[in-house]
Amino acid sequence: MAVLDIITVPHPVLSQRARPVREEEFGEALEQLCSDMAETMYAAPGVGLAGPQVGDLRCIIVLDAGEDEERGKRLRKMVNPSIVERSEETIQWEETCLSVPGLEVMVERNRRVRVQWRQPDGTAAEDWFEDYEAVIVQHELDHLVGTVLLDRVSRFKRRRYLKRVKREFVEAQR
Ligand code: NI
Repeated sequence: MAVLDIITVPHPVLSQRARPVREEEFGEALEQLCSDMAETMYAAPGVGLAGPQVGDLRCIIVLDAGEDEERGKRLRKMVNPSIVERSEETIQWEETCLSVPGLEVMVERNRRVRVQWRQPDGTAAEDWFEDYEAVIVQHELDHLVGTVLLDRVSRFKRRRYLKRVKREFVEAQR
């Protein structure tokens, strides 16, 4: 197990589209990567993490909406996830992202989503997610098409955020 480095904006890898995991890639190495991603998420701490955030441009996400003693019990490792059904009802949530530290953005999402995915060992899986868990799934799926929270704010807010990040980076180098 290993904690991986989390990539932050404006790194270009976060804006790229991830590719599906191929049949021959399922198995031990993929299980290891998913476990490392989960460990990285817990260490951060965060509630979800997508492949591109650790520099792996494949369709892989991990999430765990559990809190406190529930932590770990609701861990999902999803390979090639896709939303196959959505509720019309939506929900607004103030989202944060480990790759965009310090930014909170109110985002509207479907309140319930049905997701199909593969386990790291190749087994097919499917489930409904709702409320906070549905928000996380949709947020992580955004990462797989190269969309981050920073893409959801105005150009002004985006510029201001990036300026702040740059300044903090320069200060940290001193
Ligand atoms: Ni994120």
